[in-house]
Amino acid sequence: MTSPADTPAKPLRPRRSCLAVPGSNPRFLEKAQGLPADQVFLDLEDACAPLAKPDARHTIVKFLNEGDWTGKTRVVRVNDWTTHWTYRDVITVVEGAGANLDCIMLPKVQDAQQVQALDMLLTQIEKTVGLDVGRIGIEAQIENARGLVEVDGIAAASPRLETIIFGPADFMASINMKSLVVGEQPPGYPADAYHYILMRILMAARANDLQAIDGPYLQIKNIDGYREVAGRAAALGFDGKWVLHPGQVDASNEIFSPSQEDYDHAELILDAYEYYTSAEGGAKGSAMLGDEMIDEASRKMALVVAGKGRAAGLRRTSRFEPPQS
Ligand code: GLV
Ligand code: MG
Repeated sequence: MTSPADTPAKPLRPRRSCLAVPGSNPRFLEKAQGLPADQVFLDLEDACAPLAKPDARHTIVKFLNEGDWTGKTRVVRVNDWTTHWTYRDVITVVEGAGANLDCIMLPKVQDAQQVQALDMLLTQIEKTVGLDVGRIGIEAQIENARGLVEVDGIAAASPRLETIIFGPADFMASINMKSLVVGEQPPGYPADAYHYILMRILMAARANDLQAIDGPYLQIKNIDGYREVAGRAAALGFDGKWVLHPGQVDASNEIFSPSQEDYDHAELILDAYEYYTSAEGGAKGSAMLGDEMIDEASRKMALVVAGKGRAAGLRRTSRFEPPQS
């Protein structure tokens, strides 16, 4: 495992929409470059048939090196460590295109050691081919009961980690959930069957300064269904969700950005709090903004919303005016 001292500070990348692209399909790899997704992940795992995997590794290298992925976080999903494909996936892709790659996504992570094994392999490749050691991040997918039980250790396993991702399809199979519709509530249970899982992942991610990402929604024509499921994760605090189809990209970008009203409000809180805590504003620890009391905790909440709004390119439509004395 790389020591934190070897590792550059982690950039906070927007990941409202994370577009899945089958690594074996040049047509999709071409088209993905023109879509407004925050992240693309080129898939060598479940969207890539076993017989197609060896060629897909090279196709991905070519597209990473020659494609135009400006503005997008570039990720490759390799196969999980229980297969015999993982090491070749990582070596071929990172040796061939490591300079044009931001993260490796590791699916079906079951414990911290699996993340550390990937970290060590990446370090060896980086040293061998002369890449910055520790620059390539890791995204860990939680897709089965074992992974969820171990998620705290997984989220703390490597300084390379950037996200913890919920993989609902594999997860539903792993726990025998009585539904075939990924992300939808199973009939017969009167509450939210995903609440515990999402919160467990969110807590582990936040405790380790990582982003929490929700996985796919497979009914790609049902945008209302997508919005509902994505809205659930966004309301809890998740940072983004996978998109499988161009039609889901705008919905995801919108749902995981603050509304204009919330963004303006957050910026007002930040300005007002700065004013009231200053000597000019009376050096107060808490103050009133209209009918609302604000204090240090309000500032922290506002920082999150303002940060997401700025990252989404929102512009302020109002300004804080200090009261006339
Ligand atoms: C994604 O990989 C999932 O299993 O949902
Ligand atoms: Mg999966």
